Amino acid sequence: MSRYNLIHRPRRLRKTEALRNLVRQTQLSVHDLIFPIFVEENLEERKPISSMPGVFRETENSLGEKVKEAENLGIQTIILFGVSHKKDADGSDSLSPDGLLSRMIKKAKNVAPNMNIVADVCFCEYTDHGHCGPIAEDGDVDNDATIENIGKQAVNCAKAGADIIAPSGMMDGQVLSIRESLDEAGFQHIPIMAYSAKFASTYYGPFRDAAGCALGKYEHVAKDRKSYQMDPANGDEAIRETLLDIDEGADMVMVKPGLAYLDILYRVKEAFKMPTFAYHVSGEYAMLKAAAEKGWLDYDTTMMETLLSFKRAGADGIITYTALDAARILANK
Ligand code: PBG
Ligand code: ZN
Repeated sequence: MSRYNLIHRPRRLRKTEALRNLVRQTQLSVHDLIFPIFVEENLEERKPISSMPGVFRETENSLGEKVKEAENLGIQTIILFGVSHKKDADGSDSLSPDGLLSRMIKKAKNVAPNMNIVADVCFCEYTDHGHCGPIAEDGDVDNDATIENIGKQAVNCAKAGADIIAPSGMMDGQVLSIRESLDEAGFQHIPIMAYSAKFASTYYGPFRDAAGCALGKYEHVAKDRKSYQMDPANGDEAIRETLLDIDEGADMVMVKPGLAYLDILYRVKEAFKMPTFAYHVSGEYAMLKAAAEKGWLDYDTTMMETLLSFKRAGADGIITYTALDAARILANK
């Protein structure tokens, strides 16, 4: 007998595994996972990315095996990033039907016709200065020249077989330009997953090694992306950016990075009730891997808790470098 007469004892529902399973509110499924793959052209052998242990730059051949591996684990969506050897001021290789962007989409589609192939639509992987569009006189990215080109890039991706177009450059009007260009080219059915609230984040550091799109090569060109990616201090602006993308025709929206921006994710989902995605970015992955390598955190459980937190905050899906690991864990549950 207890001398306390407690009516409410939340611990009642935590007593057994079966009770906890019964009342669990949020679940992570393999269908929530979007797996990113880096592909480098003219590469003999797949190359490990040192700041992202377990992640490789795939060759155009090994891309096929990676896509198959993801498919065999039940993953149905991948996103592709190119590491170009044909960079120029405008990123023109990404507009060519024979360019790397087009080739890797074709290859992935060929290997796995039922997979959703997401094309990350931006120019930074194909420009020699590393910015997300051509540079104007003042050293800053030329917004309207970029959105003119980005419509063409999106059509190039759709022609290659992309199922989803994901513009990541944070240019004003890019979603509208893409929607109009896709429609004119007969791709009315291809949806846009907009990186709507993308912040100028230092958590992208390892990605820039991975994709080879670091800035700073040219004296007269801006040394950061703060004139187009958002100020990490601005929550309300993220809502406005997302609203603009929805008005311009975005079918899905995204918040990026992930963990440090869970408040934004929650607000975006609450405000718009759109299919909403979180990008668990390279720096977040690197931190997790580093702590695990030191023996300070358990990789599997910390990762699964992190992915669940995105879902709890409102994400319908997550772009994550942990996708294969998470899929394996989900399969063995
Ligand atoms: C390109 C792009 C970036 C990322 C995804 N697409 C880099 C950037 O904007 O600097 C970052 C992904 C990551 O860090 O995992 N626009
Ligand atoms: Zn970019």
